[in-house]
Amino acid sequence: MTKLRVAVLVSGRGSNLGALLDACANPDFPAGVVLVCANRDAPALQHARRSGVAHVVFRRQAYPSREARDLAMAGALAATQVELIVCAGYDAILSPVFVDQFAGRIINVHPSLLPAFAGSMDAPARALAAGVSETGCTVHLVTNDVDAGPVLAQQRVAVLPGDTAEALHRRIRDAEHKLLPAVVRGLAERRLVPSR
Ligand code: GRF
Repeated sequence: MTKLRVAVLVSGRGSNLGALLDACANPDFPAGVVLVCANRDAPALQHARRSGVAHVVFRRQAYPSREARDLAMAGALAATQVELIVCAGYDAILSPVFVDQFAGRIINVHPSLLPAFAGSMDAPARALAAGVSETGCTVHLVTNDVDAGPVLAQQRVAVLPGDTAEALHRRIRDAEHKLLPAVVRGLAERRLVPSR
């Protein structure tokens, strides 16, 4: 089986990267992570080290502009013949030049049922503040409109009495850890990412 070549972009703790790497450790899983890119020395990089996956940090300060940084990252991804790019807790907005180069091949995981609570990673706290009875997570295609690309899959998560933003986000992450590998599997099996 030729596995789909996946790169993961991270900024934070990397639990979604860990879940995806665990899925990829199954010989039957049709995708493999070939490169992890971070925009800082993120704890997430520990998961790449543990799995022996190549990883690179593209610090914004090392480049004259955000676009220059993203072009350098695009070069590394192209050189690694990456077929799918997964944003998993990546907290920088990708430049249009980057998104256009990989159009239809970038996905993102977001901790809400988009379009609700788009635009920031504190979506669980916003859901709690809004008093909704359920929220969840979404895997969607990345376009130049932040958190507004076509939805590929969603999972609902109930808001429980007495929830804190942290407890709610923990349960949303648990759902993400199943949803993201399932979406990657689905895309790999079709050998195709839906176009915009
Ligand atoms: C996730 O909740 C994801 O939806 C959001 O950022 C969080 C990343 O968590 N974009 P982790 O770094 O994968 O643990």
